[in-house]
Amino acid sequence: MGKMRQVLAGETIAVPPIWIMRQAGRYLPEYRKVRKQAGSFLDLCYNPELASEVTLQPIRRFDFDAAILFSDILVIPDALGQQVDFEEGRGPVLGPLDLESLDKAAVRSHLAPVFETVTRVRAGLAGDKALLGFCGAPWTVATYMIAGHGTPDQGPARRSALGDPDRFQVLIDLLVDASVDYLLGQLEAGADAVQIFDTWAGILDEEQFQRWAVDPVRRIVDRLRAVRPQTPVIAFAKGAGVRIGDYATATGANCVGVDWSVPPAMACDLVDDSIAIQGNMDPMRLIVGGEALDRGVDRVLEAFAGRPHIFNLGHGITPDTPIEHVERLVARVRGREGN
Ligand code: CP3
Repeated sequence: MGKMRQVLAGETIAVPPIWIMRQAGRYLPEYRKVRKQAGSFLDLCYNPELASEVTLQPIRRFDFDAAILFSDILVIPDALGQQVDFEEGRGPVLGPLDLESLDKAAVRSHLAPVFETVTRVRAGLAGDKALLGFCGAPWTVATYMIAGHGTPDQGPARRSALGDPDRFQVLIDLLVDASVDYLLGQLEAGADAVQIFDTWAGILDEEQFQRWAVDPVRRIVDRLRAVRPQTPVIAFAKGAGVRIGDYATATGANCVGVDWSVPPAMACDLVDDSIAIQGNMDPMRLIVGGEALDRGVDRVLEAFAGRPHIFNLGHGITPDTPIEHVERLVARVRGREGN
């Protein structure tokens, strides 16, 4: 898996590998076409032929160094038996959460089509490209399971975590088990590395961050390594801020994702040199393009030169991003190649 493997192993290379969170998605006309054909969003996630096609689309178009499996973090509640729907323009909507009825024994078989997608993608991907599997971190998945939809401040989950921690722990433990099954299925099917997305970790205070963001991810990493010791793991806790260094070390990740609120120089100081950093350009620079984009790229490249670095945005690419700006980004990151 080429450059990605080198950097995830702790090597520093002159031109960093690049991929973009949410790179398969609505900013691409070829994605919108397949999406229409598939029926619902979950139908697309569970259709290996179409899901492998949309996974590969951004690689064909932009020649990124990594493909990321096309699926979603919310296939986990779906596999556990909670109702999950994606409504046009509204995002995910989940049915009532009944902890006692959730069935973790069903996860592997329910997600078999996703593992089939991984196998197909790996077969269609050049050997020097990495295939990333992923899951949502238990905390972030729990925020959707408890509220039933996205929330501005994750209030329902925070209230439940503080108000009835023993019961909340039961949900988190279940999600740790389900996530391990989900990730191991992806790794066995051919994923080269996995990323754990903790999109809403930043809202937690110090104590809650340790208990609900650090500990569950550490347990997932330990269990993956017990079965597959060499598995490279990228942990992304958006909003971790000054906690990024401790988070990297405590989770045992090979690489941490960093959002654009963290000054790159501070990230370099905080994160151990043996752990790669992934990030961290503001996605708005990619939407705006031109000088704003060029400056953003150069600053990120300069700040992380001399340490293991994977170029990425600080969060996902959005549907309003012009394709020419993505082309310009890749050309600029690779511009120094051969120099
Ligand atoms: O390209 C990739 O990165 C791979 C696929 C991927 C998707 N979702 C596809 C998707 C990945 C890695 C995710 C992760 C994900 N899903 C996260 C964590 C990362 C992040 O961006 O914070 C979260 C919180 C979710 C849950 C989720 N899925 C929401 C809140 C939404 C609705 C928001 C929206 O953009 O509409 C989704 C839907 C979703 N997942 C889409 C895609 C391409 C768009 C839906 C569509 O195409 O109809």
